[in-house]
Amino acid sequence: VKTDPIRAAFSADGFRATGHELVDRLADYLARATAGAVPVLPAAGPAALAELFPPRFPDPGSPSFGALVARVLEGSNHLHHPRYVGHQVTAPLPEAALAELVSAFLNNSMAVYEMGPVSTAMERSVVLFLASRVGFGAGSGGVLTSGGSAGNLTALLAARQAKAGHDAWTEGAARPLAILVSEQAHYSIARSASIMGLGKKAVFAVPVDAAFKLRPEALEPARRRAESEGRRVIAVVGSACSTATGSFDPLEPIAEFAREHVLWFHVDGAHGAAAALSEKYRGLLRGIERADSVVWDAHKMMLVPSLATAVLFRDDARSYEAFAQEASYLFQGEREWWNVAPRTLECTKRMMSLPLYSVLATRGPAFLGDYVTRMFDLARTFAAALRREPDFEVAVTPEANIVCFRHRAGDDVLQERIRRRILSDGSFYLVQTKLADRVFLRVTLMNPLTTEGDLTQLVETVREAARA
Ligand SMILES: Cc1ncc(COP(=O)(O)O)c(C=O)c1O
Repeated sequence: VKTDPIRAAFSADGFRATGHELVDRLADYLARATAGAVPVLPAAGPAALAELFPPRFPDPGSPSFGALVARVLEGSNHLHHPRYVGHQVTAPLPEAALAELVSAFLNNSMAVYEMGPVSTAMERSVVLFLASRVGFGAGSGGVLTSGGSAGNLTALLAARQAKAGHDAWTEGAARPLAILVSEQAHYSIARSASIMGLGKKAVFAVPVDAAFKLRPEALEPARRRAESEGRRVIAVVGSACSTATGSFDPLEPIAEFAREHVLWFHVDGAHGAAAALSEKYRGLLRGIERADSVVWDAHKMMLVPSLATAVLFRDDARSYEAFAQEASYLFQGEREWWNVAPRTLECTKRMMSLPLYSVLATRGPAFLGDYVTRMFDLARTFAAALRREPDFEVAVTPEANIVCFRHRAGDDVLQERIRRRILSDGSFYLVQTKLADRVFLRVTLMNPLTTEGDLTQLVETVREAARA
């Protein structure tokens, strides 16, 4: 009898064999990466990789999934390497990656309860847990969505509904609107304004102080500027923390300003809301409990794979207004927490809650709180060490786990050259940013396996690259 190849592809025994081999391969990879036995970011550029993964798919395909995975592992950026100190993406806990596999396997797509019963219940629970951690009380809630950018958009849509009325959704706003936000805010705020049709000009940048924190006394002049241009201010956004330097805006005075002017107060806590889990550092978020909405990325500081972002609302009813739309083929009722798609950008979405719920359930919140504390501590230690070196300049004493610094021997071109040299030898992966028009090297300490010793070596590596 001829076997049916499609049916055979679903064989449980075949999956068992491939799956065991894959887990063994990933475990070996994890051992090599965490031991630092691979370059952090392989040197191959885009053209070489395009060549390695060509758009040629012959029939029959090659049965060697393992060989393909080996090439994927080899060519990727190794976030589990202790010397990965780059962008704000976590080295996921292996068990969280396994939970993600379960999600991919079941593919319960969430839009309506019936298509994702367990993940819907878990989503509600993690959202309620996170809401309570930022200090929201009874009646709070929210949703999970695909990343901080989508989260900020969701929150600002709710802000517009709350402050400019339902007409803004159906007719477009009758009067130009405005949002006040620090000049250090993540670009997704301005992007959201454009997506919403408010236009980039609707975003009024509020100046920051020497620590790159929004200056509360600059809010009123920004509001006046917006009003003098005939715009109605609907929202003020605080960053907790900012992307470039990890600075926490002073949320208390921003909350007070929002109250005085009856504005929506949104906190972009994509990176730093996780400080709420740390006994030592939760004070950085003082005032967050007064926000109308908070965005919190679990894939940044909660050790789970991308993407899993919570959009939290102090008043959960507001979350039903962000996307005030009806689709009768999907949603029969209103305000049913168990049907999530009316409240999210996504229709179909991954079982986003699964990795986060499982880490919280199996490790406990204190485990994650300790992780946050450790990384924030390490950044302070690193910055203090840099300050003791006469040839280094630190942009600002870190509040979170982000450190920006420069080698004093040269200008912007030197900093860029240092980074390129380090990347080309694969010893570290670090990034760069511009602060007050000067280029700084930037590290984010995401990987809990990074040690002070690694960072001492980073200082030496930067020196060598400056000399080379
Ligand atoms: C403060 C802040 N907001 C939003 C984002 C965007 O998050 P995502 O990359 O998950 O879309 C980032 C990402 O770095 C961020 O730092």
